[in-house]
Amino acid sequence: MAVTCARDVFQPFVTLVFLQLPLASICHNCWTDPCASGGKANFDVIGPQAPILAMAGGQVELQCQLFPSVSAEDMELRWYRCQPSLAVHVRERGMDVDEEQVPQYRGRTTFVNDHVAAGKATVRIHSVTAFDNGTYCCRFQDGAEFGETVVQVQVAGLGTEPRIQVMARQDGVRAECTSAGWFPEPRVEWRDFRGQARPAVTNLSASATTGLWAVASSLTLWDRAVEGLSCSISSPLLPEQRKVAE
Ligand SMILES: *[C@@H]1O[C@H](CO)[C@@H](O)[C@H](O)[C@H]1NC(C)=O
Ligand SMILES: *[C@@H]1O[C@H](CO)[C@@H](O)[C@H](O)[C@H]1NC(C)=O
Repeated sequence: MAVTCARDVFQPFVTLVFLQLPLASICHNCWTDPCASGGKANFDVIGPQAPILAMAGGQVELQCQLFPSVSAEDMELRWYRCQPSLAVHVRERGMDVDEEQVPQYRGRTTFVNDHVAAGKATVRIHSVTAFDNGTYCCRFQDGAEFGETVVQVQVAGLGTEPRIQVMARQDGVRAECTSAGWFPEPRVEWRDFRGQARPAVTNLSASATTGLWAVASSLTLWDRAVEGLSCSISSPLLPEQRKVAE
């Protein structure tokens, strides 16, 4: 990460900002403004280049690394949601600082202590929900110097096996396909026994506790051709799809 900043030219302005803001608020935009990274640290913090795919219900590791790879054992290590700034996991002098952690991550994070002496630090988040999707910042601070980087987490949810329920009506047959646990919003596709797509009405609703989407999709078959009817649901992030046929 070779970033050149005009910090020296604007030193008076930077000093002013430092006086007015608490340190933690300086890097609210750390992914857009590399020059806002404060003191001239003689290290950089590097994270994964691409977003990390995390399955809902599973776990995800946020790994950040010093360059050059000096020890991070005596540094303050902080993983936080960048915007708004919310502490996910904080570590000082080799100890977790639980008081700073926001409630939504309480009891769900583990610091992986393996390679801290080599400048590598990882926080594992357990029981991933849709609310964990987004941008994280990790900051390594050594006295007044700090460096930080951004880690993107992309949550994917593969929902339950869909179910089709068929209801006879005077004017035809109504079929409804349901499934839950999707993220982001899934696509639903109905096909008849000839393999032809059939238009349907699809409702999506997000779970208040997990943020995952439930799907209820229905169509009416005027020709009552239920046999061979299939409903497929897929996530834009995952190769597999869930399919059920009558
Ligand atoms: C999930 O987070 C990524 C960044 O990690 C973002 O690009 C994406 O829009 C988010 N998805 C949803 C559905 O919010
Ligand atoms: C979708 O929502 C509409 C309006 O809320 C409702 O009338 C309809 O029955 C719902 N359809 C399904 C398949 O749940």
